Amino acid sequence: MTSPVFSPAFADDLDTLLAWRRDVRHFNATPLPDGTLDHLLDRACLAPSVGNSQPWRFVRVVSAERRNAIITHVEAENQRAAAIYQDEARAAYDALKLHGLREAPEHLAVFCELDPKAGRGLGRQTMPETLAYSVVMAIHTLWLSARAIGVGMGWVSIVDPAAVNGMLAVPEDWRFVAMLCLGYPAQDSETPELVRCHWQDRLPADQTRFIR
Ligand SMILES: Cc1cc2nc3c(=O)[nH]c(=O)nc-3n(C[C@H](O)[C@H](O)[C@H](O)COP(=O)(O)O)c2cc1C
Repeated sequence: MTSPVFSPAFADDLDTLLAWRRDVRHFNATPLPDGTLDHLLDRACLAPSVGNSQPWRFVRVVSAERRNAIITHVEAENQRAAAIYQDEARAAYDALKLHGLREAPEHLAVFCELDPKAGRGLGRQTMPETLAYSVVMAIHTLWLSARAIGVGMGWVSIVDPAAVNGMLAVPEDWRFVAMLCLGYPAQDSETPELVRCHWQDRLPADQTRFIR
């Protein structure tokens, strides 16, 4: 097969996708069509990984009991996290919606296998954390692929990783990376929700780019 040539129109569309990918916390309850999640996970598995180790492990959480346990856990951890804020900051924190686990039709827990056979250790001897970075690459690929077909995704990190490992009964050598919500977004925006809520603006370029 000849390699594809991406058109300027495609590059424009990709820019639009990047600008409109959002962390979604507001979902409508419409389920994803059969096969959609598998299609997206196939795309996620095209991500780069250290030594081609493909250390991502995806757990689709479908049992009502486990979904509810995760929601209860996240809400308790969110209360604990709120305690570091006082006064106006606490009121602002309490007004944020930091997960869409109640409405999202899909809960996906993502783990990193810490010593995968695949890749045979290549590239990670001095930086074992590159395995987890690889998993994050897959998550971002999933995020963009989902948005490209109108599916929203939200990342929930307000969890105790050990508790999630226990709730989902995964192998001990899987490190928790992310709890993801997927579903159709209740709204679209070009602006991150934390910007719209005046929690945190985007940083100006001069605070993120340096020359040495
Ligand atoms: C590692 C990571 C953890 C995150 N954890 C949470 C979370 O627990 N709750 C939440 O509402 N958003 C979470 N987010 C989403 C960020 O708040 C969001 O990406 C950021 O505000 C920028 O918004 P955008 O993704 O819509 O551009 C997380 C994002 C990342 C990359």
